[in-house]
Amino acid sequence: MRLLSSLKFAVVLAAVLLLPACSDVAKDALAPPVTTDRTYTTDIKPIFDRSCIRCHGEEVQNGNIPLNFSSYESIQNYIGDAPSNEVIIVPGLATSFLLIKLDPQYNGIMYKYLDDPEEYNLIYDWIVSNNAAE
Ligand code: HEC
Repeated sequence: MRLLSSLKFAVVLAAVLLLPACSDVAKDALAPPVTTDRTYTTDIKPIFDRSCIRCHGEEVQNGNIPLNFSSYESIQNYIGDAPSNEVIIVPGLATSFLLIKLDPQYNGIMYKYLDDPEEYNLIYDWIVSNNAAE
């Protein structure tokens, strides 16, 4: 009987000692894959220049489109008619308004202006994994 309870104790002790080690392993396994660095200047500006600023340029065009995609600051500071007047790019946020407007799965109305579906993934990566770095 005595042996049994000290055996039980040993098992519990082992579990308590091993548990933190196991959860560390689990955390490592769940860590997001390391993505390449994406920056506005290198990766994103060329897309906006090519596909967006003819309508979203410094001058308000096509009636009234205030959103100006010609510089990092103008995009960061723009508050759209997005729900709850949020900025269109929230670093790290997958539901940033800009991503919703560009997401092919949700019929994002600006998706059609991208040259290549891969560009959506690139912009997603930039905002979500690289905190919309400049
Ligand atoms: C041919 C002109 C045109 C092009 C090119 C264009 N847009 Fe737009 N965009 C518009 C118009 C017009 C609106 C406003 C009307 C609307 O929301 O339906 C708009 C609205 C938006 C909005 C929402 C702004 C708000 O406050 O609601 C976002 C975000 C946006 N565009 C992003 C982009 C991106 C990113 C690109 C490039 C991939 C792009 N647009 C290319 C015409 C254009």
